[in-house]
Amino acid sequence: MPPPWTPDSWRRRPIRQMPAYPDAARLAAVEDRLCRYPPLVFAGEVRRLKAALAGAAEGHAFVLQGGDCAESFQDFTANIIRDTFRVLLQMAVVLTFGASLPVVKLGRMAGQFAKPRSSDTETRDGETLPSYRGDIINGPEFTAEDRVPDPARMETAYFQSAGMLNLLRAFATGGYADLHEVHRWNLGFVARSPLVERYQDLAHRIDETLAFMSACGISSRTTPQIHNTDFFTSHEALLLPYEQALTRVDSTSGDWYGCSAHFLWVGDRTRQPDGAHVEFLRGVRNPIGIKVGPTTPVEDLPSLLETLNPKNEPGRLTLIVRMGADKVGRLLPPLLRAVKREGRSVVWICDPMHGNTIASNAGVKTRSFDSILAEVHGFFDAHAAEGTWAGGVHVEMTGQAVTECIGGAHGLTMTDLGERYETFCDPRLNAEQSLEMAFLVAEELKARREPVDRSPAVAAR
Ligand code: PEP
Ligand code: CO
Repeated sequence: MPPPWTPDSWRRRPIRQMPAYPDAARLAAVEDRLCRYPPLVFAGEVRRLKAALAGAAEGHAFVLQGGDCAESFQDFTANIIRDTFRVLLQMAVVLTFGASLPVVKLGRMAGQFAKPRSSDTETRDGETLPSYRGDIINGPEFTAEDRVPDPARMETAYFQSAGMLNLLRAFATGGYADLHEVHRWNLGFVARSPLVERYQDLAHRIDETLAFMSACGISSRTTPQIHNTDFFTSHEALLLPYEQALTRVDSTSGDWYGCSAHFLWVGDRTRQPDGAHVEFLRGVRNPIGIKVGPTTPVEDLPSLLETLNPKNEPGRLTLIVRMGADKVGRLLPPLLRAVKREGRSVVWICDPMHGNTIASNAGVKTRSFDSILAEVHGFFDAHAAEGTWAGGVHVEMTGQAVTECIGGAHGLTMTDLGERYETFCDPRLNAEQSLEMAFLVAEELKARREPVDRSPAVAAR
């Protein structure tokens, strides 16, 4: 039996990636205030997400998780939030059509502020300063003042998350997410794309389906599902003093929930089975993600799954696989088999970003659209071979026309990266690249489901 869990039991475990706050009293004062603030999400919403993810674990839903690598305080504007939300909805519509299944929409939004770093310090021109760890911890400028961890940033992150969630909830239910509107945006994307020929068939079929549904009386006026959408938030639960301060007991069930977001994940650098981050996540009832990478030992997985999901509840755990396009075909199948052998219920989703980061000619981080897509294909192939359900994708993207990843239909090159390279951490797919990826994944989902759909009666016609 593990020792009893409490919201602060993680403090007795080895911890990685913890910032060194110089003033413990200021940190404690911020934590005290955060403990008294209202939760950002409600347990009922979190349970609804868990039920939707249980569908994805059982092969009846597909997950789309996306947003910035690192949100920044500076990008807190209505237009930037709206554009990311809109592109996620556009992607979700084509994926829903491709999969013929509900798509669970999870933003890396409204709380994705803390970043794990491979080095504690950064050196430029002979000067060494603490690394930038995300706006919730310190500032990105290469100055001694900006790089000192400042607990007041946690409060800014809390209020910013609250403001963003307010807008996201309004968009999701106030008419902005209307299916017909989202589809019209997609038609605009297809018309502008150099690959219009390739995408227009799928877009046209969605068009016909919507027209048919309207003719049958299924429209925004008659059907809330056409007018509204469910949208959930997620981030890496990295900064544990913040996460602990936002942990609340749900009055209806008496259970503990992490109330900073609906879904929390543990990153590739902090998923040690006996470490502080796993200890914290063990006790909250939210759906939890675990990043799984080339350095995840297959033998660690069963104990992690047991610790984080002892009752094997479907929807509780999502494994976010980020191997790299060249490794996924070799490293994923043993993990799929190990989880299957143990009879564990998990959602498998593919993060084709974090294993495919390369340095550009100018030394900035980039990713190629082709490698990203190749990892998604490798992920689908591995699942097809093992008879398991490839349950979703996890992408770093933005609704802005940035130039951070190379490739895609517009053929961005290394030279173009200088135009609009705005990320505070990893390179993101821009709006057009994100939509393109959704169309290509939707085609693949559709192709994979077709042989199953073709029952003898249909095939004979
Ligand atoms: C991330 O998702 O931004 C991240 C740091 O990923 P990972 O933990 O998989 O490296
Ligand atoms: Co990242």
